[in-house]
Amino acid sequence: MHGRGLEGRTALVTGAGKRLGRAIALRLAREGADVVIHYRSSEDEAEATRGEIEELGSEAWTVQADLGEPAQAAELVSRAAAVAGPLGILINSASIFDTSSVDDVTFDQVTQNMAVNAWAPLELMRHFAAQDIDEGQIVNLLDTRVIGADPAHVAYIISKHALAQFTNLAALEYGPRIAVNAVAPGLVLPPPGKDESYLADLAGNLPLQRHGGAEDVADAAAYLVTARFVTGQVIYVDGGRHLRE
Ligand SMILES: NC(=O)c1ccc[n+]([C@@H]2O[C@H](COP(=O)([O-])OP(=O)(O)OC[C@H]3O[C@@H](n4cnc5c(N)ncnc54)[C@H](OP(=O)(O)O)[C@@H]3O)[C@@H](O)[C@H]2O)c1
Repeated sequence: MHGRGLEGRTALVTGAGKRLGRAIALRLAREGADVVIHYRSSEDEAEATRGEIEELGSEAWTVQADLGEPAQAAELVSRAAAVAGPLGILINSASIFDTSSVDDVTFDQVTQNMAVNAWAPLELMRHFAAQDIDEGQIVNLLDTRVIGADPAHVAYIISKHALAQFTNLAALEYGPRIAVNAVAPGLVLPPPGKDESYLADLAGNLPLQRHGGAEDVADAAAYLVTARFVTGQVIYVDGGRHLRE
């Protein structure tokens, strides 16, 4: 049972049709927030999330945008606010995750990962901050792999490093009105095509020797959108993996 401390607040959650974005959207709704559910291709899942949120007693809307297109990223906050009113919470969860090494990464991979995983969140943060609001909270989804190196996901990880920097810089730029923080998940959901055993096999190496779940990430996001004295912070929801990098 959760409180309704976010009653009267409206959140935009990107990539909220499924997986972690969906879990965060539902969690914020359980705490009383109304939610704009962004999706790119998962329209049915986004509509299902909207229905679940309405059953929880909050309002919800869906908005489609391809965040690989800078013009669409630049318009998303105003489109969301046009249907839902001013936004008080922004969760940047939508992301590309693909494999690439230093040897084979392509220019297109780097530009696409940067567009979706770093540039779009920056555009959303700017437009969110430009609203006429007294206070707001932003949470960006990073990855525990921003600690150390990740030679198998080069384009992805440099885009997450960029987003980590944008998080800190935006926290400086947009204080005192707006707090900007991040959650860095580790072994939480298996990548597409892998099942639970993928997580179980890897979990033994972690300090906590277990993998997490979407609710663990949602817990961290829910904390950060209510924290009064925290900005420029990263919560590693990773069973301690960042300590071993
Ligand atoms: N899952 C994990 O264990 C894990 C671990 C570390 C970090 N993270 C981070 O946590 C966040 C959420 O993870 P996740 O596993 O839920 O992510 P995901 O399933 O890989 O992607 C989330 C959503 O991003 C959207 N997306 C992809 N490309 C897009 C584009 N060009 N424009 C707009 N939306 C686009 C997709 O929406 P549509 O389906 O509507 O196309 C997708 O459903 C991500 O930032 C990820 O990097 C996750």
